[in-house]
This record gives sequence, structure tokens and C-alpha cells, in this order.
Amino acid sequence: MDYNKFVEKQVEDIREAVGDGIAINALSGGVDSSVVTMLGHKALGDRLKTYFVDNALMRKGEPEHVVRVFSDVGIPVELVDAREEFLSALRGVTDPEQKRQAITDTFYADVFVRLVKESGARYLLHGTILTDIEETVDGIKRQHNILEQIGIDPEDAYGYTVVEPLKTLRKDGVREVARLLGLPKEISERIPFPGPALATRIVGEVTEEKLELVREATAVVEEELADSGAFQYMAVLLGDRATGIRDNKREFGRIIVLRCIESVDARTATATQLPWDKLNQICERITSIEGVNRCLYDLTPKPPATVEYV
Ligand code: XMP
Repeated sequence: MDYNKFVEKQVEDIREAVGDGIAINALSGGVDSSVVTMLGHKALGDRLKTYFVDNALMRKGEPEHVVRVFSDVGIPVELVDAREEFLSALRGVTDPEQKRQAITDTFYADVFVRLVKESGARYLLHGTILTDIEETVDGIKRQHNILEQIGIDPEDAYGYTVVEPLKTLRKDGVREVARLLGLPKEISERIPFPGPALATRIVGEVTEEKLELVREATAVVEEELADSGAFQYMAVLLGDRATGIRDNKREFGRIIVLRCIESVDARTATATQLPWDKLNQICERITSIEGVNRCLYDLTPKPPATVEYV
């Protein structure tokens, strides 16, 4: 594929779709939404309003970091504090698909509707990629950003039109475009991180306490495996507890799973053969987090597992 032509065509298409109107987009700092932000700004300039929605499910320091990276390339990003909205939508919800649904509804029916109203926009630019569409349509997993392909007309349902410039690309193609657009390496080579964020890495109900644990464990894993060359790595908090010993006392503690995979496009994956020393080091650091007394390494390929746990 000629990615220069792809960029030109998408910029043209965005201009045509939005006309002389205003559009918004939500930037998470992942490669997909970052590329959409760049394409949208090329096409619309300051008629695109870019927001970072803090949904309480992001990684350590992520909101401030993403805003800073984009300010460095000249794109202003407004931080929206929607933490309480997401936490209350997730309260008491344990079923994986219902969790995803609650996040989708909060994004599309609450937060985006509000932002569209406030900004006077009628268009939402969106980082949906081909794999998201295929997996949702195939019934494997409802990706949070799929609407039209499962029969939801956003115009009718929410009052804005969705524009999806990346829907013909897979992750490898999106990275090519990111490099071409001059995005910093930390964005173009960034490991995938799902839209529903840390909620996909907590089995069972999402609470602030569990988010804090998985956020801390994620920071450890990402630091330890930054140079691993793996496709994706993460920490997952299981719903059960296990018996352990701390300070010579019995403790019924939390269980964290380390997942690290090799993959090309996330449609299939295998566990990375990490060195034993590295595994031990990660285990030691994870079990130093208060309340966590077990760390497991997940060997399961996709299929039968998926990459995320929820
Ligand atoms: P699964 O868990 O479906 O993950 O095997 C495949 C790839 O997609 C990412 N993922 C998502 N990305 N919205 C996204 O933008 C989502 O709802 C979502 N769910 C999973 C996952 O991190 C992996 O790279």
C-alpha cells in the first residue's frame, strides 16, 4: 500500500465529510487515536477539537503525559475529567460484555454527546481499525468503538456522525502511517492498549481499589518489559484471592497475572518465552505491591484465549 496516498485520501475524505463544520475526537495516546488526531488536524486545523477523556481507567500519569506529547507537536488537547461518570456506570457490573457496554454507553451517550453540544460539533472522528470491526462482527468480542457495523446509527442514537479514517487498516498499517506523519516513536511504536483500558484487565467488578492495584502492577510490567520487543504486555487482576504469608502472618491476597505476547496483528498470539530471571524479577516486584501475594505467568495462546481478560 502507498501510505502517502492513503494519508492524502483520508485528509480529503475528512474535509469532504465535515464540510465547513466542526469535529471532535477523543485521543487516548494509543497509535490509532493519535493517527486520527494528526489526520484530523491536517484536514480541519482548529476546526477539530481534540479531547483526552480521563475515564479513571487509564495508566499511571497517562492523561498528563499524552497532553504534553501532543502539545509538543503543536496540537492542543483538552483534558476532560469523566472519572466519576465511568466509575458509577461500572459499579456492581461483573459480566465482561456488560462492562464493555457500560463503558461504550458512557463514552457515546454521555461524554461525547456533552462534548459535541459544548463544542458545536456534529462529527466525531474515530480510530476504529479493521481488526476491531472483524472481531466484533464475528462475535468474538464487542470492541468498545463499534457502532454502525452492529446496527447502531450514531446520527439517530446520539445526534452526531462518526467518521472512521482507519477502518481499512490493521495495526501494522496504522504504525506505518504514524511514522510517515512524524509522530514520536513512543507513539508510533507504542504497544496496543484497549479503549476500555484497565477495565479489560480486572476480572469482576471494577472498583477504585482494584484499579489502583492493577495500575501499579501495569507500571511495573511496562517498565520491566519495555525493551522486550514483545507485541504487548500487561498485568491483569483476577477476581479470586489466594492464601499467602506476609510478615509471618496468613494473608488472603490478590492474584496478578502477567501476560506477554508475540503477535503480528493481535488476531492470533503466543506467549513470549521470557527469561526466567526476568520472570522472577517481575514476580518479586509485583508481590511487593501491598495486598498482592501471587503472580502468575499466562502461557495461553490466542486462540483459545483472547489477549485481554475481559
Ligand atoms: P483481544 O482481547 O480481543 O485483543 O484478543 C486483541 C487486541 O485488541 C485490543 N483490544 C481492544 N482495543 N478496544 C480497542 O481499541 C477494545 O475494546 C479492545 N479490546 C481489546 C487488545 O489490547 C489487543 O491488542
